[in-house]
Amino acid sequence: MSLDLPQVYRHHVFCCSQQRPPGHPRGSCAAKNAHPLWEQLGQRIQAKGLLDIGMAWTGCLGFCSAGPLMVVYPEGLWYRPETPADIDEIVDSHLVNNRPVERLVMVLTR
Ligand code: FES
Repeated sequence: MSLDLPQVYRHHVFCCSQQRPPGHPRGSCAAKNAHPLWEQLGQRIQAKGLLDIGMAWTGCLGFCSAGPLMVVYPEGLWYRPETPADIDEIVDSHLVNNRPVERLVMVLTR
């Protein structure tokens, strides 16, 4: 089913901020430095005045071992950034210019 509805945001980004205790078998994105990366993401979105980009900190997205993870909609593209430079590249390339950053995409396998 396809819904052709007006969208609130041009891109909506969901960032896993789940924190689990040290030694937890699943680990967590927060334990892999997610929070500073998401803070950088929010600051860069704001600094560039991207009012049509939404961002939300979320709980676990379910693929903890691959984290830190973020998902960009409407594409449903999963990224696994590791550095502030990765965040800047995602913002500048994908969120501003609609060019996904292929090298940072998480490929879902089952
Ligand atoms: S803790 Fe981030 S995907 Fe599970």
